[in-house]
Amino acid sequence: MTGRLADRLVALGVTGSIAAYKAPELVRALQAEGAAVVALITPAAARFVAPLALEALTRHPVEHDLMALLPDGRIGHIVIAESADAVLVAPATAHWLGAMANGLAGDTVTATCLATAAPVVVAPAMDGEMYAHPATRANVARLRDEFGYRVVEPESGPLASGAVGVGRLADPNRLVDAVVAAIGQRPVRAPDAADRPPRVSPPREADLEGRHVVVTAGGTAEPIDPVRFIGNRSTGKMGAAIADAALDRGARVTLIAGLTSAPLPARASIVRAETTAAMHAAVLDALPAADALVMAAAVADFRPRRRAEHKLTRETGLTVELEPTEDILAEAASRARGLASPPVLIGFAAETGSLERAAGKLARKGVDLLVANDVAEPGSGFGTETNRVSILDAGGGRDDLPLLSKREVADRLLDRVARMLDDRDSQGQTSRMSLPTAETTV
Ligand code: CTP
Repeated sequence: MTGRLADRLVALGVTGSIAAYKAPELVRALQAEGAAVVALITPAAARFVAPLALEALTRHPVEHDLMALLPDGRIGHIVIAESADAVLVAPATAHWLGAMANGLAGDTVTATCLATAAPVVVAPAMDGEMYAHPATRANVARLRDEFGYRVVEPESGPLASGAVGVGRLADPNRLVDAVVAAIGQRPVRAPDAADRPPRVSPPREADLEGRHVVVTAGGTAEPIDPVRFIGNRSTGKMGAAIADAALDRGARVTLIAGLTSAPLPARASIVRAETTAAMHAAVLDALPAADALVMAAAVADFRPRRRAEHKLTRETGLTVELEPTEDILAEAASRARGLASPPVLIGFAAETGSLERAAGKLARKGVDLLVANDVAEPGSGFGTETNRVSILDAGGGRDDLPLLSKREVADRLLDRVARMLDDRDSQGQTSRMSLPTAETTV
């Protein structure tokens, strides 16, 4: 993105003046200079401009509730305060100027200004008499002279009251210029998207309609005796999120579930398969009719060679001899090669530490995509709501995604699956079209 605000994050604070209706235009003007914009509004501003309009334009949740946490547990206005390159308060009402001048953090806009080290630009807009009042003048002077905020004076013209005077919100171009000047040559404060406020997911179309997606979820349990098993920490959340996302995009979903504690979507056809052997059978059974197989399950690599028929007691002692399990994904990949219309195959790789082994795993398993994550990293892995993954493809590409909700990871993955299936269909059509027909061969 080019422009004077390329790579910058601008927080637009909107307070309750009638000029709040100009906020969407301001968002556009900032974006036209390359900025990412996140909006904060006061309750009064929400009566003049719909938060949904600002959310749709900025693609970030609008911060309007001081007490609400982000879906990932972070505090929204603090994340904005720490990541924004500038805060632009436009329009700023007389009330807001008074609250800010006195450090009263009763709304997300004042709270963000108090908490930020970023430059703040303030554009007052109100009735002419209100702006001329000594109280307002004193508050503006305090913001400018003591806090170092840049104040863009309102313009003269017709006001909401019907009168003509000074009080109209400054022209968007002047506000953008003021933001550019306020940022100057400062380095970008939060270049990493993970440190910025989350993005709202764009609504996905029904691009998997008519497709059959098979997803495995949860961990496998390998019995030692009738009461004990060898298991792992997988909860099934990632697999359930993929199944949910695929259903929302119109797919028919078979969800092969091992041991799970996450809620599973009732709209999926659920096959329970708790051991690796059962999951192996279920996956191979579903494979020929699948358009995509997503192996999100944490499958055991070893199982007890023998399962004791009766519960083992303390007296008997316990030595468990293990044997390797079937590699379900590798076998599915080799079988898929023999199918007329092979499904897209996706593996997951939970690693601890570096993801260097992931590329080798992708080749070894023979999959199209491998979703690798470092389960030791905070916010990633078992039981969390979020995940930071890298998607590797068979062509050697690697897409490092920021920390996202598991649902958004699922959608990003399915964006690629939908594209690959469309490509597979169009290639199939082209190769059918290039086959010699009876007429051409005679
Ligand atoms: N997988 C599988 N069958 C197994 C083990 C794993 O189908 N017996 C699948 C998992 O569902 C996952 C992918 O293979 O999609 C990678 O799993 P992972 O445990 O990371 O790989 P391993 O084959 O166990 O390799 P390593 O132990 O060397 O990390």
